[in-house]
Amino acid sequence: MKNHVLKIGLLGCGPISQFAHLPAFDRARGVQLTALCDAAEDLLEAVGRRTGIDNLFTNHKEFLAHADMDAVLIAVSDPFHMPLVRDSLEAGKHVLVEKPLGTNSKECAEAVELVNRTGLKLQVGSMKRHDPGIDFAHQFIKERVGEILSVSGWYCDTLFRPAMQQALLPTPLTSAKSLKSPNDPRADKQHYSLVTHGAHLFDILRYLGGEISAVTVKVANVFDQYSWHGLMEFGGGGLGHFELTIKQNCDWSEGYNVQGSGGGVEVRTFLPFYNRPSEVRAFDASTEQWYTPLGAYSNPYKRQLEAFARSVLNDEPTNPDVRDGLAAVRLLEAVEESTIQDKKVEIAFDQG
Ligand SMILES: NC(=O)c1ccc[n+]([C@@H]2O[C@H](COP(=O)([O-])OP(=O)(O)OC[C@H]3O[C@@H](n4cnc5c(N)ncnc54)[C@H](O)[C@@H]3O)[C@@H](O)[C@H]2O)c1
Repeated sequence: MKNHVLKIGLLGCGPISQFAHLPAFDRARGVQLTALCDAAEDLLEAVGRRTGIDNLFTNHKEFLAHADMDAVLIAVSDPFHMPLVRDSLEAGKHVLVEKPLGTNSKECAEAVELVNRTGLKLQVGSMKRHDPGIDFAHQFIKERVGEILSVSGWYCDTLFRPAMQQALLPTPLTSAKSLKSPNDPRADKQHYSLVTHGAHLFDILRYLGGEISAVTVKVANVFDQYSWHGLMEFGGGGLGHFELTIKQNCDWSEGYNVQGSGGGVEVRTFLPFYNRPSEVRAFDASTEQWYTPLGAYSNPYKRQLEAFARSVLNDEPTNPDVRDGLAAVRLLEAVEESTIQDKKVEIAFDQG
């Protein structure tokens, strides 16, 4: 390892940066926040004052050319992800980009090509992989659960989320000058609900259960809310089902259940801003024992930053990597297509 600290610039000073990434930089080991960029000058200066960072840029090209950094954390609206990923990699910077990697699989495939060509690291901000409970479940499944028979997962957002976030988080600084995409992703509520939340659900289903080769999905729209239910066929021969409800008039509810030849794992996951690790019960059939981690080191955004820094500094794979980002977007497209065509949709996945 040449350096022990990765210098990172933050591109986008909106709510997710203020709620999650900036507090994570305060605590994370092996990273140093060196510069901020946001097109909204007033927001940029206010966030600069709060963080004590005075290396500020309103233009991302100048930021990429002149900021003292090895990597960029891209935390902007979804349609801007891929243009900024492209510019950052072309400028020689490693990238940690918010989920989803892009707005469609075609542009995500270009990210795979760019990463291969530049040899730089790209990690997608599906930070639930760095929840210590999910991390433990993934490792346990890999080592002890064997051939997977059955997978289930549910992710149900809550109409009470604004109240929960108000209780947990400071009021975010905002600006009328913040850059908005002309293709406002929130304009199509059904599509946006699927991709912004489904990006998390389908990433974790793949992480725990393996590749998904086909989906058959239906969606309900009642009291202006959506609920997707689907059957999943896994590459290894197992079957699974999922629920994605956005939003229910009840508490947040998320969990996963994976059963295999060597045992099984049950996971219950919480609203991420609580920094509460997933509760996990993992059963090893050979010892007839349950295992339960504590996961005290629990902030997933801090753990994701540290994992990114380790990947770059030690030249190790990122988690999730660019192919995982593409696979999650392919799955989201297949889910949407299945509801529109009212039939099973097969998904091509990278066998390597
Ligand atoms: N991982 C999670 O838990 C989680 C939670 C919420 C949101 N997100 C993701 O985070 C991303 C950002 O969300 P947000 O609500 O903070 O977005 P936002 O649009 O409210 O804020 C983004 C900021 O980036 C700036 N910006 C955009 N393009 C720019 C450019 N080219 N140059 C300079 N500044 C630019 C804008 O001016 C804006 O201030 C989204 O992709 C969303 O899906 C992730």
